[in-house]
Amino acid sequence: MAISNRAKKVTTHTLQEMKQAGEKITMLTSYDYSLARLVDAAGIDVILVGDSASNVMAGNETTVPITLDHMIYHAQCVVNGVDRALVVVDMPFGSYQGDSKTALDSAIRIMKESGGHAVKLEGGEEVAESIERIVGAGIPVQGHLGLTPQSIYKFGTYTVRAKEEAEAAQLLKDAKAIEAAGCFSIVFEKIPADLAAKVSAELSIPTIGIGAGPDCDGQVLVLHDMLGITKDFSPRFLRRYADLGESIDGAVKQYISDVQSGEFPNADESY
Ligand code: KIV
Repeated sequence: MAISNRAKKVTTHTLQEMKQAGEKITMLTSYDYSLARLVDAAGIDVILVGDSASNVMAGNETTVPITLDHMIYHAQCVVNGVDRALVVVDMPFGSYQGDSKTALDSAIRIMKESGGHAVKLEGGEEVAESIERIVGAGIPVQGHLGLTPQSIYKFGTYTVRAKEEAEAAQLLKDAKAIEAAGCFSIVFEKIPADLAAKVSAELSIPTIGIGAGPDCDGQVLVLHDMLGITKDFSPRFLRRYADLGESIDGAVKQYISDVQSGEFPNADESY
């Protein structure tokens, strides 16, 4: 039986074993109890409480405004719906960039107050000391390289990263640095497939891609994007597995029409 199917509860060790066995890791975001429950019951390996909650839950343009309190709230809701998946919680912008003590304090708050199983943070060599300190306190850390949305105002665009040789070499250096600092896994966002394949092969920890080609050790998508709830976001890497936006639109219109016509509620739906 596949390692993923055998796991009663997915842990960072399960993911490591899956990489060694060449078994792909599945990861999706969730931000609330009801959807996390469905995603977990369907058999996902990892649920990311992403700071993309800033976009898909709060309607902000970037991930910059979301706070540590907001992330803890979303993570608590998700944890309440999950029996099996590993729950990773994004550390929001401003909660770890200052110094390693601030980073550790933020990670401890996430673990104590949300019940999540691990944290994720963006960056390479510059955050290695913070990663070491958080991991040293017993908290698993997932890294995030390539397109790092919390730095959008530095880069100015959401285009593919590390296409040039120098940036690709830096990404490899960053990946090795945060692996050495103790990360249990790294997310690669929007980088060339060849580079993701090469770095994934050079690392001993699992890599999870989003817009990083097929050769990462696993894949992640934002749940609301792959379910077709968000309509105004269509990057090339996104595959839509459902059109819930259409279904919701149809259901709400039908409800409005039934209430207006007096067709709802009928006798069977009344006391
Ligand atoms: O916040 C998020 O949803 C993420 C994924 C895009 C990996 O970081």
